Amino acid sequence: MGGAEELTILTYPDPVLRVRAEEITNIDEGLIDLAESMIFTMYRAPGIGLAANQVGALKRIIVFDRSPAKPGASPQILINPEIVAREGKIVHDEACLSVTDFSAEVTRSDKVRVKGIDGDGKQIEIDAEGLLSVCLQHEIDHLDGILYIDHISSLKRALYKRKLKKILSGD
Ligand code: NI
Repeated sequence: MGGAEELTILTYPDPVLRVRAEEITNIDEGLIDLAESMIFTMYRAPGIGLAANQVGALKRIIVFDRSPAKPGASPQILINPEIVAREGKIVHDEACLSVTDFSAEVTRSDKVRVKGIDGDGKQIEIDAEGLLSVCLQHEIDHLDGILYIDHISSLKRALYKRKLKKILSGD
């Protein structure tokens, strides 16, 4: 056993966040170690979801927690997740561990059905709505190199880029 370790979360504009992660064909010990470290890192941050791109691993795996109020209670692993159905609309104020010091309202599907493989290698389907649905869409976007700020207006995005520039230059 490798054991869980805290991983470094890459932040915008790191180019790795823009790369499409690859399909996972083999669930081996290395992958389970990665998942466990991702869960550890997610709780440490703290966040309710994390995609492998965010820790520099270009593999299609996400972790999330349905009940963030009780950290450690129900961490979930989803491998090769895929949205197979969507319904309705929801507007939610989103933030991301890779997009520091910012949040913005994003419109997404209210309900999604997501197919994938769990940590035991079993094919599963999740019917999600509300916050869990938003979380899954946000994390699956990461695997395709998409950030939530891609879904907001160009004006708001420009505002964030200016703010980030200021932060990075230490003004
Ligand atoms: Ni994110």
